[in-house]
Amino acid sequence: MTDNQPTEPRHSKTRQDFDEAQLAGLYEEGMANMALYHRHCQDPVIFKALGDVRGKTLLDLACGDGFYTRRFRKEAGADPVVGIDLSPMQIEKAKAIEDADPLGIEYFAGDASDLDLGRRFDIVTAIHLLHYLESGEEIAGVLGRVHSLLTDSGRFVTMVANPEFDLDIHDPEDSKKKFAYYFSAAPKENGAVMTFHPGGLEKEREITIGLRRWHRDFVNDIAREAGFEPEWHDPFISEEGLEEYGAGFFENYLPNPQSKLLVLYKQD
Ligand SMILES: C[S@@+](CC[C@H](N)C(=O)[O-])C[C@H]1O[C@@H](n2cnc3c(N)ncnc32)[C@H](O)[C@@H]1O
Repeated sequence: MTDNQPTEPRHSKTRQDFDEAQLAGLYEEGMANMALYHRHCQDPVIFKALGDVRGKTLLDLACGDGFYTRRFRKEAGADPVVGIDLSPMQIEKAKAIEDADPLGIEYFAGDASDLDLGRRFDIVTAIHLLHYLESGEEIAGVLGRVHSLLTDSGRFVTMVANPEFDLDIHDPEDSKKKFAYYFSAAPKENGAVMTFHPGGLEKEREITIGLRRWHRDFVNDIAREAGFEPEWHDPFISEEGLEEYGAGFFENYLPNPQSKLLVLYKQD
C-alpha cells in the first residue's frame, strides 16, 4: 500500500453489513423469524451460565439492537447495564427502544477492539463477537481489554461460532425452515470464513455473513495468555421446547449447533 492510499477503518465491512441490514428492516425481520431458535436453542445455555446477576454491573459487547442487553437487565437483573455495538444503526435502534420503554440502559457505538470506558464491570457479555474478529492478535486485543474492564473475579460470557461445526451433517433446508438460519460453506481450518445465512429470509432478500471459525484450543490458549480460565458449554433445548415440539424436532440441530457458549473466568 502506498502512503497516500486511504486506509479503511477497522471492521468497516462488518459495520456496513449490520448498518444496512438494520436500515432495510432485514435485521428486525430476521430476529423475529429466529424467535424459536433464540427461545429454545440459544437462551437456555446463556441464561443458565449467566445465573442471577441482580445488582451486578454488566457490559454487553456487540449488543446489536439490544435484544439480549434488555433481557440481561430485565430478566437476569443486572444493574447498571451498558451496551456497545460497532454499527451506529444498531445503536440507534437500541436507543429508540430504550426511549420508548426506558430501562436505564446506556448504549454507545464503538468497536470492541478500541474499548476505553474508564469504568469496570462485574460481567462482560458478547452474544456473537469473536467470529467477526479477523486474527488471533485481534482476539488477544479484545480479551486483554475485557480483562482490564472486569472487576476481580469477573466473568466474560460469550456465544461463539461452534469450533466443531460440521457442514457434512448440517441439513440447510431443515435448519432454515425450523430455526431460520443455515450455513452454505464451513471450511474446517482455524480462521477460515464460514458462510452463514441468518434470518430465514427468502433467497432474493437473504442476508449472507462471513463468520470466522476459531478452533477451541486456539481460543483457549489466547484466553489463558490474557489471564482467563476458559469453560465451554454446549447448548441444550429448553424444557418448553421439548414439550412443545418433541426431541425429534431438534435432532439435526443439537449435535451440530451454530454456536457454543464460552465463559472466561478472570484469574488475576
Ligand atoms: C449477530 S449480531 C448479535 C447482536 C446481539 N448480541 C444479539 O445476539 O442479538 C452481531 C453484532 O456484532 C456487532 N459487532 C461485530 N464486530 C464488532 C466489533 N468489533 N465491536 C463491536 N461490535 C461488533 C455487529 O455490529 C452486530 O450488531
